[in-house]
Amino acid sequence: METTNQEKMKRGEFLKSLGLSTSTLMAFYCLGTTMTACGSSDNEPEPVDPNENASGISGTVTGNSINFTVDLSKVATLKTAGGFEIIGDTIVALTSGGSHVALARRCTHEGTNVRYRIAQNDFQCPNHLSEFSTTGAVEQGPATSALKVYKTALSADGNTLTVTA
Ligand code: FES
Repeated sequence: METTNQEKMKRGEFLKSLGLSTSTLMAFYCLGTTMTACGSSDNEPEPVDPNENASGISGTVTGNSINFTVDLSKVATLKTAGGFEIIGDTIVALTSGGSHVALARRCTHEGTNVRYRIAQNDFQCPNHLSEFSTTGAVEQGPATSALKVYKTALSADGNTLTVTA
């Protein structure tokens, strides 16, 4: 069952009126909305789990030694212009120009996952709307630091994308 924002607000206002703590309020939200208000928000894409065999991802997806491959036959979003995936600490996208890019996924302002926007060919943070170019440069604040960019290489047959630090 969908819970509308209006219903969430009413429930939240009611619970706040009871004087409950923030963590208690979050527990109520989780229970009352069948998890729709918890975990990743609608604005944050779900990370691909590299431990799932079917994910098509193998290698190191977090930390300073990022080095992984993506089997594009299993990650169809990265074969469609505008498609993007959160993979470990990175966001990988197929740009409007038809090339793959990989950047650090967390906005340099407060760490929210950014998302690729095909119309603008850039990355936007849904939290406070910072914008980053495909080279990671800040196009609009409040973020002031660039996103780290990773190297991408597509195999000759176009089926395997390699991302390295
Ligand atoms: S967390 Fe991204 S703009 Fe604030």
